[in-house]
Amino acid sequence: MLKLADNIRRLQKQVPSAHAVTAGKLVRGIGLTLEAVGCQLPVGSQCLVQTIDGQIEAEVVGFAEHITYLMPTEAVKGIVPGSRVQPLNREQGIGVGMDLLGRVVDGNGLPLDGLGPINIEKRVPLSAQPMNPLLRKPIEQPVDVGVRAINSMITVGSGQRMGLFAGSGVGKSVLLGMMTRGTSADVVVVGLVGERGREVKEFIQDILGEEDRKKAVVVASPADNSPLMRLKGCETAVTIAEYFRDQGLNVLLLIDSLTRYAMAQREIALAVGEPPATKGYPPSVFARLPALVERAGNGGPGQGSITAFYTVLTEGDDLQDPIADAARAILDGHIVLSRALADAGHYPAIDIEASISRVMPMVVSEEHLQKSRRIRQVYSRYQQNRDLITLGAYTKGSDPRIDLAIKAEPVINALLQQGMRQVIPYDESLASMIQLANGLGTE
Ligand SMILES: Nc1ncnc2c1ncn2[C@@H]1O[C@H](COP(=O)(O)OP(=O)(O)OP(=O)(O)O)[C@@H](O)[C@H]1O
Ligand SMILES: [Mg+2]
Repeated sequence: MLKLADNIRRLQKQVPSAHAVTAGKLVRGIGLTLEAVGCQLPVGSQCLVQTIDGQIEAEVVGFAEHITYLMPTEAVKGIVPGSRVQPLNREQGIGVGMDLLGRVVDGNGLPLDGLGPINIEKRVPLSAQPMNPLLRKPIEQPVDVGVRAINSMITVGSGQRMGLFAGSGVGKSVLLGMMTRGTSADVVVVGLVGERGREVKEFIQDILGEEDRKKAVVVASPADNSPLMRLKGCETAVTIAEYFRDQGLNVLLLIDSLTRYAMAQREIALAVGEPPATKGYPPSVFARLPALVERAGNGGPGQGSITAFYTVLTEGDDLQDPIADAARAILDGHIVLSRALADAGHYPAIDIEASISRVMPMVVSEEHLQKSRRIRQVYSRYQQNRDLITLGAYTKGSDPRIDLAIKAEPVINALLQQGMRQVIPYDESLASMIQLANGLGTE
């Protein structure tokens, strides 16, 4: 009897505990994923894969029975069947601190600008606990973005999450740069995710410039990064924004682009065998988007706020793309950039008829709301009759409302346009808009 108990104890010692972290070896490497056996590593943990001339880092992205799926965070070369997979005992999460201001970092929060190491205050995990929605402060204050068309017609509240919908080359990056320079927020965190590497440099040097970089943190994970790094780049930007918010600061978070974030998640999910659902996007993409977007917003008592802009690519100017659809549902408003306006040299190419800020009524005065509605009304009337007017089929004097729209059109267009180096503060934007609206009278 005693012998049996001894045997059981001995056997129990041999069985690894459910949470033991053990090394393993590679059995397959196809496409983006590596498959390993013999490892027991939690999903999300980092590991090192031995190669013939060194090692590469990878992350555990899933498992099926005894197979663990890994995704490398860097270029895969030099791996062979049976390559050893070891857990990487590195501190998890990213380093944050006030020293991040003025710096450019990669998806792991490490410096890319060659200005030396960054003094960090603490390490924080990339996935924060969701905030209790009842503890969030309500959105009550407008935020100044330095762009007249937005400040006056599509006013954004502090803590609001906006989408910037546009096709390629219609001025997203320039508009984000204008907001970075012109905003009243204390800190600006810019996440450049999945865009061309050249754009990252252009954004930092030409669009931002030396002076405006001081209150900005740029997180760059361009298109040539692995999908995992692109995914992380976006989450790192949000995590850094959360750190500054927790210091009581008001943060403007600009993510370019949310579509590329969704695409990175699609690449990963498809590679590990998740079935595609809507237009090739697997369900996990639609679960990740709201989880990311929900992290922005106002903080609780004693905290600051994160006002966020996410660019959404509408390829072929198709507003019905599944990511655009999902984004529209989870964001508190959207600004649509129109190719027709950009082609006509109207910059920023904001289509005010198609753009809306859902919290505007909560953050502006009744007068502000009324006057901006009046301008929209007159502008829309011109657009509805545009063909008649331009073809000369409209006879002046037949409808006083259309006559007014024709007269007001150039003035309204002037209000909505702005040079790329120009910053127009909130009060000035409001004053010009009210003055214009007063000239339009009422109907
Ligand atoms: N406010 C502005 N004033 C004058 N020109 C502008 C303005 N905004 C954008 N442009 C012009 O539009 C061009 C394209 O802008 P931008 O690079 O911001 O587009 P994008 O939407 O970010 O493009 P991509 O999809 O390639 O990233 C700029 O090079 C610039 O010439
Ligand atoms: Mg761009």
